Amino acid sequence: MTPNHQRTVISAAAELRGSLRPLTREDADAVIPFLIMAAFPPGHELPPDALKMPHAARWIDSWSDELGVGWDRDGELLGAAWARHVEPVICYADDGSPLPEVIVAVSEQARGRGLGQQMMSWLIAASKEVGDPGLSLTVSERNPGALHLYETLGFIRTKKTATGLIAMTRMHQENR
Ligand SMILES: CC(C)(COP(=O)(O)OP(=O)(O)OC[C@H]1O[C@@H](n2cnc3c(N)ncnc32)[C@H](O)[C@@H]1OP(=O)(O)O)[C@@H](O)C(=O)NCCC(=O)NCCS
Repeated sequence: MTPNHQRTVISAAAELRGSLRPLTREDADAVIPFLIMAAFPPGHELPPDALKMPHAARWIDSWSDELGVGWDRDGELLGAAWARHVEPVICYADDGSPLPEVIVAVSEQARGRGLGQQMMSWLIAASKEVGDPGLSLTVSERNPGALHLYETLGFIRTKKTATGLIAMTRMHQENR
């Protein structure tokens, strides 16, 4: 990202008002809309008991002090991103340890203003700081915006999952 581009992204985010803040154990309910945006396809009715479905529940089960960040405007989250160890593990570090997986979403009206990029950068830095070897995530091929965001942040495609998603990893050592 060029300095000029970065300035544009930051000023677009500034226009939105608000700021990044770490997620806390109090955010268990506030992150649910973002889980839904990231885990279910847009434009479809949510299945009954959506949040109890394993692929969704694993992101909020036993919510506590998570490694995560939100964009907070006057106490309302406009976006959230967090990383945790979820099952099934999609990617491992070279030493065989499971990589935490990332989930991220931004409210529809706040997209395209740099929030996703800023939250992911925060999360990568925080993940390095706590000593994770890297991060992983999955993304649909039908989500080119998210794919582009992850690739610009140094995530590389590693494989297709059993459900046809693209698995990506970002090893911190290789992306100083
Ligand atoms: C994916 C998502 C988190 C991106 O957040 P965002 O705040 O809109 O993204 P940003 O404004 O930070 O954009 C970051 C980069 O991605 C690009 N991008 C973001 N959304 C895009 C889209 N729909 N189409 C094309 N490019 C897109 C931006 O152009 C930017 O690239 P650039 O730096 O080269 O210009 C957001 O679109 C979203 O919440 N989508 C729905 C939930 C979702 O799909 N989550 C991910 C599941 S894997």
